[in-house]
Order: sequence, then structure tokens, then C-alpha cells
Amino acid sequence: MKKKIGLLLAMLAALVMMVGVFGNPTQVQAADNSLAKIQKKGVLVMGTSPDYPPYEFQATVKGKSAVVGMDVKIGEKVAKDLGVKLKIKSMSFDSLLVALQTGKIDMIISGMNPTPARRKNVDFTHTYYKGGYEIVINKTDKGKYKNKDSFSGGTLGAQTGTTQYNAAKKQTKNTKVKGMTSQSDLILALQSHKLDGVAMEKPSAEAYVSNNKQLAAIPSDFSMSSSATSSAIAFRKGSTSLVNKVNKTVDQIKKENLVKKEYLPAAGKYLKTNTVNTSMGHYWKAFLTGIEYTLIITVCSVFFGFIIGVLLALARLAKGNFLKSLLRWIATAYVEFIRGTPMMVQVMFVYFGLGLFVNLPALTSGIIAISLNSGAYVAEYIRGGINSVDIGQTEAARSLGMSNGETMRFVVLPQALKNIWPSLGNEFITLIKDSSIVSIIGVTELIYQSNIVRSDTYRGVAPIVVIMVLYFVLTFTASRILNYFERKMQHA
Ligand code: ARG
Repeated sequence: MKKKIGLLLAMLAALVMMVGVFGNPTQVQAADNSLAKIQKKGVLVMGTSPDYPPYEFQATVKGKSAVVGMDVKIGEKVAKDLGVKLKIKSMSFDSLLVALQTGKIDMIISGMNPTPARRKNVDFTHTYYKGGYEIVINKTDKGKYKNKDSFSGGTLGAQTGTTQYNAAKKQTKNTKVKGMTSQSDLILALQSHKLDGVAMEKPSAEAYVSNNKQLAAIPSDFSMSSSATSSAIAFRKGSTSLVNKVNKTVDQIKKENLVKKEYLPAAGKYLKTNTVNTSMGHYWKAFLTGIEYTLIITVCSVFFGFIIGVLLALARLAKGNFLKSLLRWIATAYVEFIRGTPMMVQVMFVYFGLGLFVNLPALTSGIIAISLNSGAYVAEYIRGGINSVDIGQTEAARSLGMSNGETMRFVVLPQALKNIWPSLGNEFITLIKDSSIVSIIGVTELIYQSNIVRSDTYRGVAPIVVIMVLYFVLTFTASRILNYFERKMQHA
């Protein structure tokens, strides 16, 4: 026994040394063909977080929801000058950098500041706009707050992953700083008095105030470096040829003052039209699309999750030789690991992590992640169901000459499924609600659509009430259908 432990320790020590010595081979900078690759692909994928007017925001264009704003105009010009098509991918601001580094997008145009911390991981073009920071408050508090220091003892909100969030954390005293993923959620929290103020860039503050009479903006007085108050386009580290080419476009935009002359006025028009018809009925197409994607994700995840669950349950019940024991061990480890990690982390790992090896669309990644998660829970239901079938059933089947496989397939599993039908039904209903988690990677299901409607209409609570009702209708209908089949099975 001592020999085995000694050998194991020696192997571990050797592994640690190898990682230490060879773990970080000298990074040989691959030849930069970033510009040629984009032009060969013919498409430039722009990542952005469309909750930041007038930089990027959702608007209804020709009856359809679209991402508009000055950054979109800049993206269109960059793509045109490169001779490629522009494709816009929306996601939360704090997902953009990881999406760029994992190849889910080719560039970030999202009002992003080229700070030194970010420059360590990505390359930036020249800056195209200079903003500055303000704090949005409720108009009724106009006399109460003067600048960032007035929020001592109060709560200041800012979008997670942004310069203003870091500034609020470092430059305020005795102030609770609340980070949220979505700028729209921050404004909703402000209007419902969960926050006393929301820090953001000046053009965005003015856009929210101009579209909402209950809001006002005050100076922030944040002490910011030049790089923290300007915006630039981000590319993957080492994309020198691409950055140099796009810099020519950025320099032209600045030289001809296109942002102030064309792009901001164009964005302003959408800001005005957005608040023409803000009734929820006007957005029925958006909610219908959300229901469609919610059902696609749920049905696919239930189907694949059930298959994974059956395989895992049978593996966990395997007994006998070394191979079966190994199978049982792997299945047990999988179930414990999946049930021990949050589904949001699993969704992001499949989308961004696997994205390093295979470029999976957001919808596919979401279905894979939710199926893998559901399979672990379904496996436990099925294993419990199989164990609940009287052993006499198996003995009787075997005595009739049925093999183990035939016994499981024709005698045990059908009875097990009858016993676990309510649990499987609960899993289906749970997945309808859990499918909303994929909104973080830009899948346009119900939650994502409600965020679009909120950004579009500047109305916070109404879209939330609508999707609450829609989720209840979906889950209530599903539970009625499942109960009908359960009654049929009981009388079968
Ligand atoms: N300029 C700030 C930063 O780079 C905030 C940008 C937020 N952009 C957005 N689309 N939400 O951190």
C-alpha cells in the first residue's frame, strides 16, 4: 500500500513540474491574417448590448424590432469599407469581452471605453466619440442630489462590467453600489425607488431623460482618465491588420464629424418614434416570437434530456464487471456535478467554452446546456421509478425466458414511467420557466423579448406583467395536458 501511495505522489510531483516547466510555452504570435479572414468570410459579426441609447438600443423599424443607434451606423460603415456584410449579435455588456475572445463575435461596438485593463486582453481602434458621465435620478429628487457625493447613505446603480460601475465603487463613500446586467433594469429599479441614481454616459443619460419626464440627470463628477470617457471599437488581441484597416474608417468618421452630423440625429429620430405607440398590444409579435422560442427550447430539452436521463439511469444501475462499475461511477459523477453547478454557468460554458472548439449558435448551445442539465434530474426520477417496480416483476419476466434487456424494456421501464409520470411532468413545467436562462446569451425567448419591449417603450413594469401572464398560460396549459395523459395511463 505504501509503495502505491509513494508512486502516486511521485507521479503527481512529476505532473506539477511538467505543467510548471512546459505549462506556458512561449506564445509564438501566429501570423496576423485577421483582415484577410474577415474579408474571406464576407461577414463581420458585431457584438453589442442594445440598452444604451443613443449608442445602441432596440427600436421598431418597419414593424420589426431592430438594433439601432450611432454604434450601429459606425458598424455599418466599418463593414461597408471592409467590403463585407454586417451581422449584429446582442448580448449583455458583461458578456461581450468573453464573446470576442471565444470567437462568438468579431468586434465590439458598444460604447466601450479602451481602458488599460481591457487593452491587456483586446485591441482597440482609435476612439470615435468622447462622452463623459452623468447620474440619472428621479425628477422628484432634483434638489436632493448634486453629484456622486450626494449619494452617501444611499444606493447608486450602474451596469455590471462597465467603467461607471468601477468608478462608482471606487469614488463614492458610504454608498451602496448596485450592479445590474441590463441598463433597462437599472432604470426600472430607479423608477420603483430601489435605487437613488443610475450612473451612465452623458448621451445615454440625456436619451433616457428625454424619453421619460419623471427622470432628470445631474453631473457625476467622477474623476475619469481620457480612455475612460472615450469610446472605441474592440477586436481580438493580435488583430493588427484588421485594426489598422478599421482605424482608417474611424479616422474618417472623426474627420468628417459624422457622429454629431449624422449618426446622433438618426438615433434621435428612433428615440422619438419609439415612444409613439408603447401599448403592450403593439408588441404582440415580439411576445409571440418569445413564446415560440420558449417552446422550441423546452420541447427539445425535454426530448434530449429524457434520452440522456434513461441512459444515465441504466448506467447508474449497472452492476457486475469493471466496465459496468466504471460506467456507474461516471454516471454518478455526472449527475452529482450537474446538480451541483448552476444552470446559468452551464449555459455560458457550453456557449463560450465549447465555442473555443466549435462555433455553436446561441439557440443550439442553450438547448444542449438545458438538455444536459435536465438529463441529470430525469435520471434520478427514472432510477427511482425503476427501483419502485417490484422485484417480482423482473423475476417473473426472467422465468419466462426474457433477457435482462427485454425485461427492462418490456416490463420494468413501462411500469417505472407510469410511476414517475408526475415527476416528468414537473420537469417539463420547470423547463418552460428555466428556458429563460438562455436570454443571457442572446436567445430571443420570452425574457429576452420583454427586455426588448422595455428598452423600446421605456416602460418597466408592463412587459414584466405580460410575460408573467404568458408563462402562467404556458405552464397551466402544459399541466392540464400532462394530467390528462396521467389519468389515461392510470386507467390503461
Ligand atoms: N462606456 C462604459 C464602458 O465601456 C459603458 C458602456 C455600456 N454600453 C452598453 N451598451 N450598455 O464600460
